[in-house]
Amino acid sequence: HRDLHRLIRRQRQMCIRDRYRTRKKNRNPGGSAVKALILSGGKGTRLRPITHTNAKQLVPIANKPILFYGLEAIRETGITEVGIIVGDTKEEIKKAVGDGSLWGLRVTYIEQEAPFGLAHAVKIAEDYLFPDDFVMYLGDNLIKDGIKPFVDEFQKTKPNAQILLAPVPHPQQFGVALLKEGKVFSLEEKPKEPKSNLALVGVYMFDKNIFSAVKAIKPSWRNELEITDAIQYLIDRKFTVTPHTITGWWKDTGKLEDLLEANRIILDTIKGSIQGEVDDHSRLEGNKIIVEKGAQIVNSTIRGPAIIGKNAKILNSYIGPFTSVYFDTTIEKSEVEHSIILENSRISEIRRIEDSLVGQNVEIIRSFKRPAAYRMMLGDSSKVEV
Ligand code: TTP
Repeated sequence: HRDLHRLIRRQRQMCIRDRYRTRKKNRNPGGSAVKALILSGGKGTRLRPITHTNAKQLVPIANKPILFYGLEAIRETGITEVGIIVGDTKEEIKKAVGDGSLWGLRVTYIEQEAPFGLAHAVKIAEDYLFPDDFVMYLGDNLIKDGIKPFVDEFQKTKPNAQILLAPVPHPQQFGVALLKEGKVFSLEEKPKEPKSNLALVGVYMFDKNIFSAVKAIKPSWRNELEITDAIQYLIDRKFTVTPHTITGWWKDTGKLEDLLEANRIILDTIKGSIQGEVDDHSRLEGNKIIVEKGAQIVNSTIRGPAIIGKNAKILNSYIGPFTSVYFDTTIEKSEVEHSIILENSRISEIRRIEDSLVGQNVEIIRSFKRPAAYRMMLGDSSKVEV
């Protein structure tokens, strides 16, 4: 009994020590903590019609909302204070993330009246952030190896700003950084003739000097306060802006192709686990297959990597590689491959669906009504290829 008590006491002491160490590590010499700012507002025009009704940051990749990968990446750095910028989809984001305690985080929501730009988001978060250093993370980004080395380097080297960069084959499509003597010399948004192949990934670290920068700059031609302009403002005034380059995989999931690619890459890393029911007439091919609790696979073939969500039903169907089926969805007498199907939808007697993102509560069914025709009710900005 005494041993047990001693053990418990030791555990408790270790716990307190760990907490103290993390807190200490996240304090800069000024004595303030490091915070995180996640941007989860925006319009998401490139993902319509999904974003007419839903937050793009909550689209699941391998059945987990994109935003949750970001929260996990932040948690891994030891940061616990997180501000989340929200816009029109605030209720949905709040419902999904809550107070952040699921991740051991303390989340504060900051409402942005309209998506006036990344620097505008920093501006309206000043009350929450000042005077602490903070990492700014775009909520629709996925960075496979996380951001811990990035945050650690900032804390070690203490520049005024640090930006995450990655080499890309087509820098024309990105914000691009030009380096000189180990520092960021200039930034260019989508340059026609890029002077380097280093793209801005969408994660930044700043000290309090960024607040005067975001207040000084003017809106760009697209009427947004650009974070690149704010960083350029710091460079021009001789503040230290340093690069941190990653070579691992990352994705800004703003478009359909990017979502499908992210889904492909994450599914490729999963470990198989079968918690639902798979009947004797079904075949699971490959070991990267997850069948979640309550899911039913009947007389079907699943070829991994694939994930079948809670209480989903796959009946007399084929689910091909790189497919994520979210919860409560039914697929019957159909073939689906390389696609993301969201919750509570139904696909019935469709010969084959590929490269698709299907929203919530959608029905795609074969009908025998005459005249034989495509009959649809599609939301604005939908796209159908037949
Ligand atoms: P973007 O993908 O650049 O912008 P967007 O979400 O409006 O999408 P689209 O270009 O398709 O219309 O935004 C990057 C991230 O930052 C994303 O998670 C949304 C968020 N964001 C804000 O929170 N506030 C803003 O003012 C802007 C511009 C973006």
